[in-house]
Amino acid sequence: MTKKLYIETLGCAMNVRDSEHIIAELKNKEDFDLTENIKEADLILINTCSVREKPVHKLFSEIGHFNKVKKPGAKIGVCGCTASHLGEEIIKKAPYVSFVLGARNVSKITDVLHKEKAVEVDIDYDESTYAFSDFRSSLYKAFINISIGCDKKCTFCIVPNTRGEEISIPPDLILKEVEKAAKSGAKEIFLLGQNVNNYGRRFSSYEGEINFTKLLRLVSEVDGVERIRFTSPHPLHMDDEFLEEFANNPKICKSMHMPLQSGSTKVLRDMKRGYTKEWFLNRASKLREMVPDVHISTDIIVGFPGESEKDFEETIEVVKEVKFEQIFSFKYSPRPLTPAKDFENQVPDEVASERLKILQDLHFEILDEISKRELGKVYKVYFEELKPGGFVAGRSDNNWIVKVKGSEELLGKFVDVKITKPGRLALEGETV
Ligand code: 5AD
Ligand code: SF4
Repeated sequence: MTKKLYIETLGCAMNVRDSEHIIAELKNKEDFDLTENIKEADLILINTCSVREKPVHKLFSEIGHFNKVKKPGAKIGVCGCTASHLGEEIIKKAPYVSFVLGARNVSKITDVLHKEKAVEVDIDYDESTYAFSDFRSSLYKAFINISIGCDKKCTFCIVPNTRGEEISIPPDLILKEVEKAAKSGAKEIFLLGQNVNNYGRRFSSYEGEINFTKLLRLVSEVDGVERIRFTSPHPLHMDDEFLEEFANNPKICKSMHMPLQSGSTKVLRDMKRGYTKEWFLNRASKLREMVPDVHISTDIIVGFPGESEKDFEETIEVVKEVKFEQIFSFKYSPRPLTPAKDFENQVPDEVASERLKILQDLHFEILDEISKRELGKVYKVYFEELKPGGFVAGRSDNNWIVKVKGSEELLGKFVDVKITKPGRLALEGETV
């Protein structure tokens, strides 16, 4: 009889794709079907994130809840980045957990399922050429991994310790995935990696020469691919060749994530980011010059150890200058296994909270100014999702979420929309 799988996914797009791989393996090899009702599940999985402390704390209350509501005999498994870094500690603290599966061990899901108290968290394990079964949660866009792991050693970040060293996936495997996705109707391809524009630096089996720019070109030549997005690029590797391909290839969506982290060169050095404030500003202004309609999003950490008022002011200066369309802002969170947790001059929480508020208020001001300019513009929107209240939502090429009144027949289509109501998070419009 078909068994039921309940899965909760936290964290980034890599985790979303890992969950799709887990679902695919369980559906195809173990006859599981998805359920949204945790009480009827035979297997309950949580795919965790460990980038900040809060979600890690929440993990134990969450799995405690799973244990209370699960049906007798149902198994609970903890997967993902927190699984990688806590390993067997999870089972010690929560003995009702059946197995722990790390972010770099996803392909072993069908093994751990049958081993009571299995802990598979080897961060040197190489899954870069593993042929996962097929499952995609969206009919319209396809997430495709181009690398695993991360070689950067940013001093705040736990990811190199949860996802291991960076290995690129061979281009022929990526292109096969792209072809398969496009054939099944996904017109948008979303390439994923911790450092996508470092693609091609190391393979475990492939011998050829290739970089991210070349990969983008190859993906854009696949029949049926109409849009390409990617995350995350690193500002350090935004060379001219890459920016030119980004600007001139019409299939590449004009929305770039440029994780700033800090606007102070001193803090950037302490973070080991590998670029300066000036380099970042130079890349951002070049991008705006080359692609006037581009959306630039960013990640910013406030309250990194040693961040002075003046350093924070520099971050504010960069935000005012670049006018990011989207900012993911965080208070620094000390993480195990990272150098920065032992740095002197940790910033008091009240100071970090105050800085976060200043940054977020500034961003809202900028957003109000930007979104007002959108009134009356016409965007080609790729519709992907039904929304409450009779709306259908999709994204413009430059990543605005756009909603119109409508129904299923818009899904999977590109339609021109005139913006009638600007907003901070989404724009409303009418099809034209
Ligand atoms: N504290 C706060 N934010 C962090 N990030 C990564 N590590 C930490 C940390 N220790 C943020 C970075 C990164 C995003 C995914 O999460 O801004 O780009
Ligand atoms: Fe993704 Fe990083 Fe969170 Fe892991 S720790 S899920 S890589 S954001």
